[in-house]
Amino acid sequence: MVSGGASVVRANIVLTVNGSLRRLTVDTRASLLDALRETLGLTGAKKGCDHGQCGACTVLLDGRRANACLALAVAQDGSDVVTVEGLADGERLSPVQEAFLAQDGYQCGYCTPGQLCSATGVLREAARGWPSAVTEDVASEPPLDDAEIRERMSGNLCRCGAYQGIVAAVREAAR
Ligand code: FES
Ligand code: FES
Repeated sequence: MVSGGASVVRANIVLTVNGSLRRLTVDTRASLLDALRETLGLTGAKKGCDHGQCGACTVLLDGRRANACLALAVAQDGSDVVTVEGLADGERLSPVQEAFLAQDGYQCGYCTPGQLCSATGVLREAARGWPSAVTEDVASEPPLDDAEIRERMSGNLCRCGAYQGIVAAVREAAR
């Protein structure tokens, strides 16, 4: 349902967020990132650039990684959203989270939620055989080597330069 005065229009939407049904009222101009952080209090997804350039806001939207700062919340009505808060199974970290810990894939950790969600998406994409821009033979299952990992994770910037550990972590999680 859409409601509002002359300047602000709000809409009621329903999202499944980290497995829970959430009903929320959003400004129709609000991004999914702002809805997650400001309305639902899920501050794991970070706002780095707010322009789709850094990947800090990456979440899994209907199973695929997406920049939450570029997605209008109202347009996601009925969608399934997984944020970094939903990657672990209770106290048990996901394989990607475990690998980031083991391989020192972070320093300040600001980019880490986005890196973790993106890496989770990368593993799914590779498992489905989806090629990247550097895949030489698009007809065969792409190997998740370092070149593939760097290309597929290239939308996620790290100001601390923790890339060596991040690549090692994705490689480990892919095994
Ligand atoms: S905050 Fe979304 S890409 Fe930078
Ligand atoms: S660990 Fe600091 S920005 Fe990536």
